[in-house]
Amino acid sequence: MISNIISKGINGSPNIPGDKSISHRSIIIPAISNGVCEVNNILNSEDVLHTLEAFKNMGVKIIEDKKNIIIIGNGLNSLKKPTNEIYLGNSGTSARLLTGLLASQKFNSILKGDKSLSTRPMGRIADPLTKMNAKIYTNNGKLPLKITPSNLVPTKIDLKIPSAQIKSGLILASLNIKGETELIENKITRDHTEIMLKSFGADIKINKLDNKKHIKIIGGKELKSKNIDVPNDLSSSAFFIITALINQGSHIIVKNINNNPTRNGLIIALKKMGANLFFHNKRLSNNEEICDIEVFSSNLNGCELGPEIADLMIDEYPILSIAASFAQSPSVFRGLKELRVKESDRLNLILINLQNCGVDCKIINDDLYINPSKKYDVKNNIIRTDFDHRIAMAFSVMGTKLGPLEIRDSESINTSFPTFKNEFNRLGGQIF
Ligand code: S3P
Repeated sequence: MISNIISKGINGSPNIPGDKSISHRSIIIPAISNGVCEVNNILNSEDVLHTLEAFKNMGVKIIEDKKNIIIIGNGLNSLKKPTNEIYLGNSGTSARLLTGLLASQKFNSILKGDKSLSTRPMGRIADPLTKMNAKIYTNNGKLPLKITPSNLVPTKIDLKIPSAQIKSGLILASLNIKGETELIENKITRDHTEIMLKSFGADIKINKLDNKKHIKIIGGKELKSKNIDVPNDLSSSAFFIITALINQGSHIIVKNINNNPTRNGLIIALKKMGANLFFHNKRLSNNEEICDIEVFSSNLNGCELGPEIADLMIDEYPILSIAASFAQSPSVFRGLKELRVKESDRLNLILINLQNCGVDCKIINDDLYINPSKKYDVKNNIIRTDFDHRIAMAFSVMGTKLGPLEIRDSESINTSFPTFKNEFNRLGGQIF
């Protein structure tokens, strides 16, 4: 895919797809609840389709329409032994959440993924589950996983790695454990699982003590289904927001965006950089904060972000590093270790692709330094993505300033935003 320079900025209102994290949970949680759930605006992308297929494979009745799906759940223990191995493609969220859920079920299952997902760490979810007495056999800490039934026991677990995927996998496992499981979160991560489970009637209590979040779940309580409106994805809208900020003449509105405070570090960062962002129609939907965001082209300043903000915006560093490359002063983003174990080693790919574009940047330990300049000499216009959707979309945005850039293996964009190219060009972008 080629991304090229635009001269007049982007204008209008892009159609941003449904939130990926909430979409996964909107299948998993209703599938183990009682009753009928209509899910509106679910993300129609490869990652989410893998979660959907997994539950069909386990006998859950799911009716699909264009924008809606209907899930008919029959309770915590209604899943059937899958007829096949469960294949999850590129989706880390499906893999971690399903490992937790399946560890508490009464049948054997096998989880597999594509080449990239098969290199990602699964010990981080299998190890704490093993403490709960789960029986999980990994391939040296990676997929494929074999899960066999066992009686899980209530356990107190201190979550060492800041990860909503791990936390959510453990919460799903604990729903089926008689007694109280306690998870201690040392750093805040996205809380979509807790929000949805609470509204479905789970016995889940959350307290903050000494800056730590204590999540207590008493398992065995049946969940009751509710309809869900999936808000649009802030992470997907970020590619449009930053294109508008760094290209003169831009004015866009991204609508119905999930602005959950455990997830909106990007907004805090961009405000710090002096971005012209305006928030409209703030409201709650299914207990998630939603708003519309109006964006005008802006003269951005660089900024320093500490590790505490990394967990609130972990997926946004590829695109934020593009914004920082066009700011008026240097930036440093600290504590980006987790970026190394995403769909690719994102920290390394940000570095080498920015350097190929002529940007003066470096990594010391896990901190990224970007020293922007007024003009760039592109050394190599081929962008390596290692099939990572967010790297592909971030460097498409880079192409609007320094193109033509050739984005390799860009079909990965289908994992989260299949309509990205069309929407981008509809608003004035140039991607071929
Ligand atoms: C996600 C959590 C994050 C994020 C991923 C989606 C989720 O991963 O990077 O895109 O839906 O829970 P970690 O929990 O591993 O940080």
